[in-house]
Amino acid sequence: MSTTTARHPRRTRAPRPYRLDVHLGAAGALDSLADDVREGLSATPKFMLPKYLYDAVGSDLYEQITDLPEYYQARTELGILQREMPGVVERLAPTELVELGSGSSRKTRVILDAMDAAGLLRRYLPVDVCPPALLDAAGMLAEAYPGLRVHAVAGDFERHLDKVPARPPAGRRLVAFLGGTIGNLAPDHRDAFMRHLAGLLGPGDALLMGMDIVGGDPERIRRAYDDAAGVTAEFNRNILRVINRELAADFAPEAWDHRAVWRRTLERVEMRLRAREPMRVHIGALGMEVTFEEGEELVTELCCKFRRETAEALYARAGLELTEWHTDELGHFAVSVAVRPER
Ligand code: AVJ
Repeated sequence: MSTTTARHPRRTRAPRPYRLDVHLGAAGALDSLADDVREGLSATPKFMLPKYLYDAVGSDLYEQITDLPEYYQARTELGILQREMPGVVERLAPTELVELGSGSSRKTRVILDAMDAAGLLRRYLPVDVCPPALLDAAGMLAEAYPGLRVHAVAGDFERHLDKVPARPPAGRRLVAFLGGTIGNLAPDHRDAFMRHLAGLLGPGDALLMGMDIVGGDPERIRRAYDDAAGVTAEFNRNILRVINRELAADFAPEAWDHRAVWRRTLERVEMRLRAREPMRVHIGALGMEVTFEEGEELVTELCCKFRRETAEALYARAGLELTEWHTDELGHFAVSVAVRPER
């Protein structure tokens, strides 16, 4: 770990309003790429992990996705936050915000504004795999909210939650996990992840989570991942470009068709890439040769959808209690609040 805070007792300049702890290795977000690709391409069916979709190009494509007419999730969540955060802050009185996968600072600003307006805002702790994005946000927010302390943690929220600094002895913590990203975690890892997340909460603290909702016409949900302009298709194929570059592989991205499939009983969309012809792919850095049949599909992302009852059960298994469930008028997306019940 490295840190930008000096421990010297005689300070020669004013304390900095922000600090960045880096828990990633030299490859940063790509530390575990080789292992994950080896595992995913040896499995049946073959899969890749969605976190590798977000290199600079992928992050830019994702930003474009959030503006697509079909992709209702991002703007719907933002609208709910704008409408509900003042009340949520009034009820919970949080003095600090921990944000996982901090990404776009638009949502962050809505939460921090509500805390600031209530006179509660003391500290912001973003956790993200991208140190440059964290530094940008830290600098910008430290300036926008004078007196705010920013303590950023560069790490993978599936591996480094234990590196999040301790909660304040006085005051309360709000942990935000937005965007519906909970839906991208493999269901068999989800409960363990939720228990780790609950470990960040003390008495009086709360978790704020964004979740996409199942209901109505599933084609509406599926189309959010299969837009007419083809942006999601490019976003999906980009994972092959990441692997080509980082692991000296020779995937031909144009030879793969984008697919978004609604799995009715599993209540999720699966993003997949389908091989248009038989292929043999060499992954130089792994010394691995992988063959694909014509029509074979590679699963690149699971997008699980929730209902109020499944959210409640998810929280309960992690020892948390759902206390607030806010949706848009159409009931397409939810922002929920859960707390650790005092016993
Ligand atoms: C915001 C990461 C949750 O699953 O809806 C968008 C990612 N993938 N289009 C989602 C995504 C394809 C998105 N998350």
